[in-house]
Amino acid sequence: MCGIIARIGEGGTVEDLVTGLENLEYRGYDSAGVAVQNGDGIAVRKRSGRVDELRRAVRRRRLHGEVGIGHTRWSTHGPPTDENAHPHTDESEAVAVVHNGVIENYDDLRADLRADGVTFSSDTDTEVVPHLIERKLEEGLEPEAAFRAALDALEGNYAIAALVEDDETLYAARDGSPLVLGVAADGYYLASDVPAFVEFTDRVMYLEDGDVVVAQRDELRVTDTAGRPVDRAVETVDWSADEAGRGSYDHFMLKEIHTQPGALANTIEGRIDPERGAVSLEDFPQGAFDDVRRVQLVGCGTSYHAALFGETMLKRAGVRAEAIRANEYGVSAGPADEETLVVAVTQSGETADTLAAVEDAGQRGARTLAVTNVVGSSVTRVADDSLFIRAGPEIGVAATKTYSSQTVTLGLLALRLVDDVPAADPHFDRRELLSALRDLPDQVESVLQTNDAESLARTYSDHDSYFFIGRGQANSVAKEGALKFKEITYEHAEGFAAGELKHGPLALVTPNTPLFAVCSGDEEQDEKTLTNATEAQARGAPVVVVGPDHSDDVADARLPVPDTHPVWATLLANVQLQLVSYHAAVQLDRAIDKPRNLAKSVTVE
Ligand code: AGP
Repeated sequence: MCGIIARIGEGGTVEDLVTGLENLEYRGYDSAGVAVQNGDGIAVRKRSGRVDELRRAVRRRRLHGEVGIGHTRWSTHGPPTDENAHPHTDESEAVAVVHNGVIENYDDLRADLRADGVTFSSDTDTEVVPHLIERKLEEGLEPEAAFRAALDALEGNYAIAALVEDDETLYAARDGSPLVLGVAADGYYLASDVPAFVEFTDRVMYLEDGDVVVAQRDELRVTDTAGRPVDRAVETVDWSADEAGRGSYDHFMLKEIHTQPGALANTIEGRIDPERGAVSLEDFPQGAFDDVRRVQLVGCGTSYHAALFGETMLKRAGVRAEAIRANEYGVSAGPADEETLVVAVTQSGETADTLAAVEDAGQRGARTLAVTNVVGSSVTRVADDSLFIRAGPEIGVAATKTYSSQTVTLGLLALRLVDDVPAADPHFDRRELLSALRDLPDQVESVLQTNDAESLARTYSDHDSYFFIGRGQANSVAKEGALKFKEITYEHAEGFAAGELKHGPLALVTPNTPLFAVCSGDEEQDEKTLTNATEAQARGAPVVVVGPDHSDDVADARLPVPDTHPVWATLLANVQLQLVSYHAAVQLDRAIDKPRNLAKSVTVE
């Protein structure tokens, strides 16, 4: 995915664009660029590398102008070079365009334009757009009509912002990729996500697919593709620039790990009544899931691990449930019909694989529900209903607080489903589970205050491979622990069911492969996990036990968590593992918030 920003307003446009790109860097950091109208045509600066490079370039050769667009790129078509950086222009630089998404028919469009004598200067799909607009201008169309005509020719998905020479107007459109509009006292912002401009305005208009924006300093028009006005409400976002900033933390990831107690408190706020053992979820009153007979949970990466957590919980409650990787949904999902609830788990709400799975499920007749963090995101438009995890903005590429809030939200959803699904037969005490959940934010705080993860990371950050094992819910946490570790340390890590160790992975175990055994406090299950851990220990692997204290003497090192219900104990163990990954990545001097080759959400399949 990429990040786009645009601004029209009084003064400071270039500075706001570059700041906006810094705020959007979590969406891609291969190259960055801006273009502005400067009274003397369109001026473009773009560079491969991080936004810092662009900032230096803009300082070296000063840019001015009050209408501008900017882009930070995660490469899909073509390598991360200066040429492939956005904005892209036509040959005469009369039109400049930034784009997030994929133009599927770009090969055909390129061939047509080439046949017309156009020379391309990049490998990107985006470059067809400025050439198309320019062709239409040459044919005599006004800029707005030329922009609309170019949109008509595109197949695929996009959020696009464009400038036309000698026209103090911003043109923008969305179809399948996110685009939000910020309304400020002195002008307008357009961006892929609210954090881009939240320090300038908290008043936001969430645009929808098919919307076309024409913004001038003192006039804003939002229409559909046919030019008919559409009405979009201006909402005030309920979080501040401080929440979206890094504050005094060295990294966003560390901040996000440390703000989990507050995020979890928000997630459960007003939703649980431990005394009655009851859960209420805003739009889903008693009976809302009466028709559901089976649940499929889809997601990618960390969100898939949250889905696995939800699957285990639902199964324990007697509900037929299956977690499926969203990118495998089309080929490996079992039957889905109107009695199937398909739960799309996605922090960003923009992951293309997950959106495709939701669409597929909808076509099969299933009911779809988005469990997401981002109000107004694409998944909330594609799914029938939405349930928000309320974790607040997450900027670090590695998902941390959103995983905790996702798993808790899925736990609450499981309890609500149990009320309605006829075959449900919960094997847990709801009151016990909910009163333990009420204590979870404080217990996370106590893990954060007392943990030993930093010194443990120092001991173990220089080894060959890292294994993470667990059973049941602890298995999904083991998988998540391994993903986090590999994602930000670039070290090899694998997570799997504890019982699987002896069926193959044991061949890889040596004194150089630390093994993290995730425990839940369920003695019977933990005993088995610890037996598996000793099988690795006998081959020389150091064993780190992560979970509530046991009277075992297996551990070479421990990362303890407070006693609680086994379901939530695994989430406390996960916080310990987040800290281990973080501190190991610090030891190894990795780019923690922006790991190589990754982006916060992946908007291509
Ligand atoms: C998590 O640390 C990863 N960055 C990644 O696996 C992520 O969870 C995945 O891409 C799904 O993103 P989503 O939750 O925004 O759909």
